[in-house]
Amino acid sequence: PPIASTPGPALPPLPYRPRRLRQSAALRDSVAETRLHPEDLIAPFFVIPGQGREEPVHALPGIARYSVDLLLPQLERSLKLGVRSVMLFGVLPPSEKDPLAQSAADPGGPVPTALRAARKAFGNDLVLYADVCLCTHTDHGHCGLLKETPRGVVIDNDASLVQLARMALTQAEAGVDCVAPSDMMDGRVGYLRRALDEAGHTGVGILSYAVKYASAFYGPFREAAGSAPSFGDRSTYQMDPRNAREALREARLDEEEGADLLMVKPALAYLDILARLRPTTQLPLVAYNVSGEYAMLKAAAAAGVLEEGRAVRETLTAIKRAGADLIITYHALEALERGWL
Ligand code: PBG
Ligand code: ZN
Repeated sequence: PPIASTPGPALPPLPYRPRRLRQSAALRDSVAETRLHPEDLIAPFFVIPGQGREEPVHALPGIARYSVDLLLPQLERSLKLGVRSVMLFGVLPPSEKDPLAQSAADPGGPVPTALRAARKAFGNDLVLYADVCLCTHTDHGHCGLLKETPRGVVIDNDASLVQLARMALTQAEAGVDCVAPSDMMDGRVGYLRRALDEAGHTGVGILSYAVKYASAFYGPFREAAGSAPSFGDRSTYQMDPRNAREALREARLDEEEGADLLMVKPALAYLDILARLRPTTQLPLVAYNVSGEYAMLKAAAAAGVLEEGRAVRETLTAIKRAGADLIITYHALEALERGWL
């Protein structure tokens, strides 16, 4: 017999019925607490030397590395979709890497070249962020320089800062809006701020990867950027995934050192960190929906086990709901083009 016809106890009065506001799409949209805009997104791009080169990245379906001439149409595509912020990562062949990461300060490198070209083509319409880190420039693939000590080979924190500052200055000269240090060395935000100010670049901002965990979810990026460490791992500089209070300390330090925006990375396994950080700072918060998160969703969609568009929208919405103002995501352009957001 149908359940509705079985007699049951009388329902108590329900003065508040949450379902009332869910009865139509128009009603649901009107009371939605979180909205995604194209302006919330930052599209990441991999830039390589040379001309006429477009190299698909196996681990990141739909993402390619571009030489500067082919990057420009991609930046235009981004702008047309309303994604007005981009993040540039340089990728170099092994022949241009050395223990001192000297190519990081080369004004002729792919990122400074792309910054100048983008500024020329798009003026101030595009917000240009650029990664500041040594791992794509060192032959050993670590984010800092190395030194021999009685305790073995370690990262030379303070010597790394000098080269990071040279890299940031090179980008500032090339027209970057905000440098984005992702190395996780101690004191780098303050050091970069000083270096930029002393060189007259007081208007160049710092988006600090303040809370960056040592994560398995960077795997595809390291393939794309050729930046996997040749020995050891990054756990002496990136954060331990078991720690949350430490994230608040890291964020506070970077704010005190002069960061303009703070980042939490990765995003999905760290939404609790975003939500805890949100009320502790007035700075804009950025979340990095990293390569492994993108690859995971792409793989599930390719296997036919979920609807990609809905999964992408839900993912990005959740990151914003947790407290992010801005989201760096490889999904940005495709999601807008396909009407997923
Ligand atoms: C390099 C850097 C990494 C990412 C951004 N900058 C990789 C790493 O720390 O090993 C990861 C981004 C992603 O996975 O999408 N410092
Ligand atoms: Zn690095």
